[in-house]
Amino acid sequence: MQVDLAQAIALIKRGEVVAIPTETVYGLAADARNEGALKQIFAIKQRPTNNPLIVHLASSEQVLDWAKVFPPLAQKLAAAFWPGPLTIVLPAKESVSSILRAGEPTVALRVPAHQIAQQVLQQTGLGLAAPSANKYTQLSPTTAQHVANGLGNSVPVLDGGACQVGIESTIVAIDGDQWQLLRLGMISEAQVASVVGVQSKLPTLQDDKPLPKAPGQHLLHYSPKTPVELFASRAALLQAAENADCAALLLGEGKIASGKTFNLPNEPVSFAEQLYDTLHQMDALAVAILLIEAPPRQPEWLAIHDRLTRASRKLN
Ligand code: TXA
Ligand code: MG
Repeated sequence: MQVDLAQAIALIKRGEVVAIPTETVYGLAADARNEGALKQIFAIKQRPTNNPLIVHLASSEQVLDWAKVFPPLAQKLAAAFWPGPLTIVLPAKESVSSILRAGEPTVALRVPAHQIAQQVLQQTGLGLAAPSANKYTQLSPTTAQHVANGLGNSVPVLDGGACQVGIESTIVAIDGDQWQLLRLGMISEAQVASVVGVQSKLPTLQDDKPLPKAPGQHLLHYSPKTPVELFASRAALLQAAENADCAALLLGEGKIASGKTFNLPNEPVSFAEQLYDTLHQMDALAVAILLIEAPPRQPEWLAIHDRLTRASRKLN
């Protein structure tokens, strides 16, 4: 159900849940201090209650309403990347709902750049809990239509067009003067490191291995319903496509002999922007398998690699 800005604000103030656009993906937003609203978010997403939510803020001035401390390292990151696609995990104040933080001693904070998200934040005056507006483990939505397709028409959606970053924010946990990358987004580990200027204390993302402890880094996150297979070489993909009931996603130009081909630019920023919409379209074809050509293994492609690897992971 589509709502306008004024309706979205009124609903959120009343303790209801509304899907809103951000620059990364659409979020399922509600008052982060209202436990009834938080429970609704978990129920609509069918998300396990041990998986905490990000609090979205209008500006970094509100950080100390939620976090016990705002260490210099976190302040540097905020100054460099907020508003924008970075989430910072800090020690939580005791007043922060344990439903929101799923019992963790920390809270995740993000100041989004999207103009409509900013209007909702500023006009409600609230911190907004907002996970991606999809069912647990499924593909994140980058348009209002994706939200409606995934969550049904009873969820109010504020349409802000297609998201420009296209994949979820980079998450960095800060503990005093040390940091750890918990999820890679379009802000790269190198960009974070160049701002904070110290070594991370714990291992960060490795190509195929999930992090030791990062709630929500579920192996099957970001998955289309159709099985996905990733190919390091175009030739191997073309061979697999022969006689298969499939659709293919190719990097740059080209096509498969039979079955629908989707082509994305061989450039990470545009690829990320269009990735989820393309996967949503491919999923809707209801073919037996989706064949995806893996991008090059260069640093600027790592966040995309992470999402594609998760999308292609099988249960056993
Ligand atoms: O780009 C984004 O981050 C989007 C938009 C809507 O802001 N949000 C998003 O939220 O992706 P969600 O809930 O789908 O993913 C947030 C991730 C989850 O994996 C969650 O476990 C992790 O952040 N997280 C939240 N709070 C945390 C905490 N206190 N410590 C560690 N991880 C946390
Ligand atoms: Mg999510």
